[in-house]
Amino acid sequence: MSVKERDSFRTSIGVILALIGSAIGLGNLWRFPYLVGTNGGAAFIIIYLVCIIFLCMPIMVAEFVIGRRSQANVFGAFKKLAPASGWKHTGVLAVLTCITLLSFYVVVGGWTIDYFVKSLRIVFTPQTDFAGEFNKMVSSTSEILFYTVLFLVINGAVILAGVRRGIERTNKILMSVLAVLIVLIASYSLTLPGARQGLDFLFRPDFSKVTFNTALNALGQGFLSLSIGCGSIITYASYTKKETNLLKTTTITTLSDTGFAIIAGVAILPAVFSAGMDPGEGAGLAFVSLPYVFANMPMGKILSILFYFILFAAALSSSISITEPIVAFMKEEFRTSRLKAVITSFVIVLIFAVLCALSFGLLANIKIVGKTFFDFFDYISSNLFLTVGALLGAIFAGWKIKKEDFFDEITSGGRYKIPKWLIGTLRVFIRYVAPVVVAIIIINSLMGN
Ligand code: ALA
Repeated sequence: MSVKERDSFRTSIGVILALIGSAIGLGNLWRFPYLVGTNGGAAFIIIYLVCIIFLCMPIMVAEFVIGRRSQANVFGAFKKLAPASGWKHTGVLAVLTCITLLSFYVVVGGWTIDYFVKSLRIVFTPQTDFAGEFNKMVSSTSEILFYTVLFLVINGAVILAGVRRGIERTNKILMSVLAVLIVLIASYSLTLPGARQGLDFLFRPDFSKVTFNTALNALGQGFLSLSIGCGSIITYASYTKKETNLLKTTTITTLSDTGFAIIAGVAILPAVFSAGMDPGEGAGLAFVSLPYVFANMPMGKILSILFYFILFAAALSSSISITEPIVAFMKEEFRTSRLKAVITSFVIVLIFAVLCALSFGLLANIKIVGKTFFDFFDYISSNLFLTVGALLGAIFAGWKIKKEDFFDEITSGGRYKIPKWLIGTLRVFIRYVAPVVVAIIIINSLMGN
């Protein structure tokens, strides 16, 4: 297939919304609020913002430059920009990262549909044993497989429709709906008795809780939240035109992602505290505490439907961005049709997803390095592959892409007047600061900290 025939985003706003869709996901809704609350409130938010501005954004720019300059899939990008070198294997790592990330992400996506349907059917009452209900769902076989496959099919259908008609259009709709709904829930949450306690948990600065690990947590969260290191940004950037202002796009994406995470905290924590619950993170928060809160609050039934829709939409927009790098890789490197690439990636991801889906039931006793399939894939992708991918992306953009080419991409061939000192500073962060800091993090996490 010639480069001319490549699908691309139609508008700059479409690119921005697709990147925001990639960024906003489970990381914002069930991880960020808890991390903030337990790592010093506003103190954590300040550290998070520092990490985002000085490390995550430069790496995001680096990945954007790689993708747009190459106009190729994540493997083809490294191959094209550094021919006859081993760099293309970075692309293989990215594809692997996407497969492992997706394998558990789509299972959680399935849970969100399951709880959305249960909210519609008003299955939960104040008397429900919510922990028991959740355990029943995750340890089932047919129910969990049904919803996992359903999520994968929806994900595949969007991807199959293509970049413009599928990804761009879906994200435009989902992100607009998501923004309205989360603001609505946050406004309502603030009116609840006890809301203040939730806000204190989220925002009261407590610098005594700040340690080296706080910074590591903040940076790890930044990578996950902005989908850095897995090829999503490189792939989406490869579908953008030269007119797209790269710095503006990354800045808006980052601001929206962080803003959404904070508003999600304002939506969730006051409600949890007003119901007298302890906030937790992850599945416990979204599938045990919150259903209890919804079942016991006025308007809870409607809020429950809206909340699980938000969770589903956020998971879907992210999973789309994690699937497209695999599909683009297969389509372009094996010169096959989008349909065949989607089906092949569907089958591969499904095999891994089944292992993860059954990790709480049939396969609960099978462990790899002491972890169930679900935890293992979560661990290697979030803690290892993503950070290694981010490191390699920064080194490549900083050291393998020529200075003139880097400037050319940032200014879109001179179209945008961006101060030279700003581009130079950004390049220094990409060449030196980001690789050193990310390498420290990888070594630290390999040492088990
Ligand atoms: N960026 C996605 C999230 O936050 C992966 O969940």
